[in-house]
Amino acid sequence: MEIVILPSATEVGALAARKIVRLVREKPDAVLGLATGSSPLAIYAALAEHVRDGSLDVTGVSAFALDEYVGIPAEHPESYAAVIHREVTAPLHLDPDRVQVPDGRAPDLEAAGERYEDAIRAAGGVDLQILGIGANGHVGFNEPTSSFASRTRIKTLTERTRSDNARFFDRPDEVPTHCLTQGLGTIMDARELLLVAQGSGKAAAVAAAVEGPVTSMCPASILQHHRRATIMVDEDAAAGLTLGDYYRWTYANKPAWQQF
Ligand code: GLP
Repeated sequence: MEIVILPSATEVGALAARKIVRLVREKPDAVLGLATGSSPLAIYAALAEHVRDGSLDVTGVSAFALDEYVGIPAEHPESYAAVIHREVTAPLHLDPDRVQVPDGRAPDLEAAGERYEDAIRAAGGVDLQILGIGANGHVGFNEPTSSFASRTRIKTLTERTRSDNARFFDRPDEVPTHCLTQGLGTIMDARELLLVAQGSGKAAAVAAAVEGPVTSMCPASILQHHRRATIMVDEDAAAGLTLGDYYRWTYANKPAWQQF
């Protein structure tokens, strides 16, 4: 894993966006994996800026979201279909037909999970998967004890995740109890992973994911087994890392040809 520690969330967003711009220049029909939550918002804002100034052309890009709530309509402003449209598809002018979100409203959720896996496969797989991390170490909505082999499926949300996400809803009891999420096996199939985290609330989860044992109690720790995983964090989210200076030195002394 490559760990990059940056002064602020804005810089995390700008550098992550630069990496994505480079990917799309090399592969104009790249398949991106999108995450919701507040962590990637700075990336999407920076990408939208690149689209505006003409340095990024997303005409050929397609995208798959990680997850969706079960039990709220697509029109609900906090459904991930609505969030992805508002934060990514619209500002980046992505072709809406090329952006998919798991169907959390399907009558048969198991079949919907399989369809989603088929769609990702048919698109040639995800080139770069953007990830946030939950305070309990979840990625997507793969809560602690999720199988490392899991595929897109229904999951029950933990109380911790429901209370962390309550800020997006009018009342805490409006937060859905279930979701349809890509599995850890699905996420690990992406050719490259880019996890971003900001703020001290993520410091313990980032330390466990990067330096702790690989355990399903911290689902993000599975990233240690990926060949190309980059973790970009701000100083606050990096606070629990014991090898912080090593990561800073390594990044500062990266050869030019390896720069993002
Ligand atoms: C959410 C999403 C995850 C996200 C995580 C952290 O519930 N399902 O994809 O990474 O929790 O969210 P935030 O970035 O808002 O802290």
